[in-house]
Amino acid sequence: MSDLFPVPPDFAARAHVDAAAYENLYGRSLDDNQGFWREQAGFLDWIKPFTKVSDTRFDPDDLRIRWFADGTLNASVNCIDRHLPAKADLPAILWEGDASDERRTVTWGQLSDRVNRLANVLKSLGVAKGDVVTIYLPVIPEAFVAMMACVRIGAVHSVVFSGFSAEALANRIADAGAKVLITADEGKRGGRAVPLKRNADEALTSQPGVAHVVVVRRTGAPVPFSPGRDLWYEDALAAAQPWCEPVEVGAEDPLFILYTSGSTGKPKGLVHTTGGYLVHAGTSWKTIFDWHPGDVFWCTADVGWVTAHTYKIYGPLLNGATSVLFEGVPTWPDSSRWWSIIERYRVAIFYTAPTALRSLMREGEGPVRRHDLSSLRVLGSVGEPINPEAWRWYHSVIGAGRCPIVDTYWQTETGAVLLVPIPGAIPNKPGMAAKPYFGIRPVVVDAQGNRLDGVAEGNMCFEGSWPGQARTILHDHERFIRTYFAPYPGLFFTGDGVRRDEDGYYRISGRVDDVINVSGHRLGTVELESAISSHRAVAESAVVGFPHDLKGQGVFAYVTLKDGITESEELRKELVAWVRARIGPIASPDVIQWAPALPKNRAGKILRRILAKVAANDFENFGDTSTVADPAVVGDIVQSRKDTL
Ligand code: PRX
Repeated sequence: MSDLFPVPPDFAARAHVDAAAYENLYGRSLDDNQGFWREQAGFLDWIKPFTKVSDTRFDPDDLRIRWFADGTLNASVNCIDRHLPAKADLPAILWEGDASDERRTVTWGQLSDRVNRLANVLKSLGVAKGDVVTIYLPVIPEAFVAMMACVRIGAVHSVVFSGFSAEALANRIADAGAKVLITADEGKRGGRAVPLKRNADEALTSQPGVAHVVVVRRTGAPVPFSPGRDLWYEDALAAAQPWCEPVEVGAEDPLFILYTSGSTGKPKGLVHTTGGYLVHAGTSWKTIFDWHPGDVFWCTADVGWVTAHTYKIYGPLLNGATSVLFEGVPTWPDSSRWWSIIERYRVAIFYTAPTALRSLMREGEGPVRRHDLSSLRVLGSVGEPINPEAWRWYHSVIGAGRCPIVDTYWQTETGAVLLVPIPGAIPNKPGMAAKPYFGIRPVVVDAQGNRLDGVAEGNMCFEGSWPGQARTILHDHERFIRTYFAPYPGLFFTGDGVRRDEDGYYRISGRVDDVINVSGHRLGTVELESAISSHRAVAESAVVGFPHDLKGQGVFAYVTLKDGITESEELRKELVAWVRARIGPIASPDVIQWAPALPKNRAGKILRRILAKVAANDFENFGDTSTVADPAVVGDIVQSRKDTL
């Protein structure tokens, strides 16, 4: 079993959970699920304790997901107040800006002061319990402050990735019905300015419902300012009262909305509620990263993604841990930037995505060797399957062979981790998210929904609820049921494929639906197609993922032009820029392939399976093509592709 990396004995000796504890606790978490989560919920400070742990049913006709429902609490009190006054002068956030000479430490006391003041500002702007505030900020401490200020007054945050375009921001503001937007003058990434306020202004031209915009001065660049609507964050905080009474909310009251892509065009606003999410986020964070007091934690994810919500913001804050926050990119000003940050802050736990590792791996060991990474104890991976080659590099070059790798499998929908090799307990196998977290029951099914035992390959489902899972899709509960609970009644379906091996280890193989995973970012193919097809030259388009060395998957777009329009390099570039402007740079098509027509079945449905094979340069094994309405179309597509290679 050369592929098995045992838990280092000295690591296991001081870990929160070792192999025996895992077996024991996992068994108990299933046999006495209520008792297990009741105990875990003791991690939070409740205002009114709950009496009932859960009331859940994965029945598409009668879906119920409720955890700790009659308990009440406040999230910001759990994340901040309870660490005071003991930690008032200790660092909560160690921020490093995009430029390597810019840094700030935010203590727990300062964080608390800022959060209370901003909460008062939001109140003065009319934000009340249950209202949505959209946050469009770079990776700066003010993003933490903004989220915490919302939840202090029972408002619901909706963070939008700062790499999204004005149009994408506008759609998310409209869907959430936000009244207030919190943004910055600009962001900084890799030496370049990101025009956040300009994007926000553009988005707001179609969103008059946003009455106020709170603007953080990040770079000090001159930006348009609408008196009456806009206010400067610093000025508003300076004028605000320093204490804001936290609002008591129910465990099932919403905590945040987070948009993600699905298999239809419209992004889904997943709704997470307060009690269950905080229990799952806070307890799992400490366990899976084996955090001990004094350990500095660093998660590289952008605040706009669920990874950051759960394991960069809520997890560390709930546990009173010090985190590094880095605004920039791993390759600027050079490709040793991350390693210099680990050395500077003596990072013990480092959590990142495979795509970044693959690009840093290309730079060789030189940039790593220039830095002392001996503070590292645990390495984490998230967002996409990590290929064994990147895994080995991470393990041997970054972790010097001594740090377990925590490959965490979960989703925006699941709120927190489902599969993970808990580092003191589960030996690693490269590329495998390994074993279920406590209380989690993985089930592998075939396409017909038959449950598969033992070694098996199929669709990744889960049975029974867990407290962190999303409760609904905003304004579309029916879609929530249809997407996750209707495909295999009684189970939650993730949309991923999986293989379980002879040791009961799980390896996620990637999406089996119309979602592609580009550099760990989820993109819906239909969303991309709608953007492309809205261009005046385009008659029709079809988007598929294709294997990409760095990104994991790339965006491959087949485009059929309208009659009379000629294919050109210029038009190709225009289409790429068009998609970037509609969605954001992460959605840029890697390949645009002109297609005279698209292969469809007789019902007119595009046959993506064939298109995906051609995109992967696999020109045979199309399987059953008898359903193709016009078989000649397939030949034409193959020929056009071959011509471009
Ligand atoms: O396909 C799986 C992949 O990312 C999807 C979830 O994306 P998102 O909601 O953006 O959340 C990402 C961060 C939690 C999943 O359906 N994925 C996530 N983590 C892993 C993974 N695939 C394999 N291994 C993982 N560790």
